Amino acid sequence: MPEITPNPRGAEFWNSTMGHAWVSQQAVISDVFTSVTNVSLDAASAKRGEHVVDIGCGTGDTLLAFAKAVGPSGAALGVDISAPMLDLAKHRAAEADFGNVTCALADATSYPFEPRWADLVYSRFGLMFFGDPAKAFANIRSGMKADGRLVFVCFRTMPESPWFCVPIEAARPHLPPQPPADPLAPGMFSFAHEERVRGILTTAGFREIAIKPTDVPIHGKDVTQSMAFITQAGPLPALLENASDEQRHRAIEAVRNALAAGIGADGRGLHVGLWLVSALA
Ligand SMILES: C[S@@+](CC[C@H](N)C(=O)[O-])C[C@H]1O[C@@H](n2cnc3c(N)ncnc32)[C@H](O)[C@@H]1O
Repeated sequence: MPEITPNPRGAEFWNSTMGHAWVSQQAVISDVFTSVTNVSLDAASAKRGEHVVDIGCGTGDTLLAFAKAVGPSGAALGVDISAPMLDLAKHRAAEADFGNVTCALADATSYPFEPRWADLVYSRFGLMFFGDPAKAFANIRSGMKADGRLVFVCFRTMPESPWFCVPIEAARPHLPPQPPADPLAPGMFSFAHEERVRGILTTAGFREIAIKPTDVPIHGKDVTQSMAFITQAGPLPALLENASDEQRHRAIEAVRNALAAGIGADGRGLHVGLWLVSALA
C-alpha cells in the first residue's frame, strides 16, 4: 500500500477484499467491460511513440492496450493505489513482453509525475475515488504536455445504469436498511453529475472540456459473468456486509433472477450509463 495518501480509507479498500476480487475476476471484468473499453480507447486515440498515463490502471487491461498502441518508441505508465491489482498488471505486461510499461504504486493525488511528460492521460473508472479531486486533477495535469489530452469514463447516476440498479433494487427488499450514501464521497457514482465533473476539471486548469452521455451495452458472455462482477467486484458486497446468511442467500437469488430476466442469451440486455469525458491540459 502506498505510504503517502490523502485517502487512507480508499487505499485500504483497494488493497483488501475489493482489490483481491478485481484480481480474481480480471478475465470476467475484461469481458464485461469490452464495449466500455472500445468506446473509450477510440476516444483516446493513442498513437505510436506517445507517452500515456493510465490512472487507476488496476489489473492492466487498458494499460496493455496502450503499450501495444504506442509501440516500443512510446511508453505507458500505470498509476494505481492497489498493490494486488498493480502486481497483476506488472505480471501481464511482463508476460506480453512489453518493455515500454512502467507501474507506480501511488495515490495519483500525490504521485510526483514527471513534468510535461504525457501526451495522453486516460482512465477507465479510476478517477472517482480521490479524497480531494481538484488537487488530484491539478497534480495529474502537471505531468501533461501543453495540449496533452485527458480522456476518461465514469458512471452517470445509478438509475441510468440498469445493469447496476436492476439487480440492486431486486436485492434491497431482502437486506437490512442502508444509511443514505453521501453522493460526493469518493466512490463509483461520485462523478455522476456533469456540473461537478466540469467544476473539478476547470478548477484544476483543464480547458476544452467535453462531457458526453454515452450508453454502452454490457458485453459479458452470460448471466454468470454479470453475477460474478455484481456480487464480488461491483456495488453489492457493500450492501451484503451486515446481512445474515439467510438474507444474503435470498438477496443473491433475487439478483440472479433479475439479471436472468434482464440479460439475453448473448449477455447484452442491460446497459451502463457513462460520461465520456475529454479535455486539454
Ligand atoms: C473501478 S477500479 C478500475 C480499474 C481499471 N481501470 C479497470 O477498469 O479495470 C478503480 C481503480 O482505481 C484505483 N484507485 C483508487 N483510488 C486511487 C488513487 N487515489 N490513485 C490511484 N489509483 C486509485 C483502484 O485501486 C482501482 O484499481
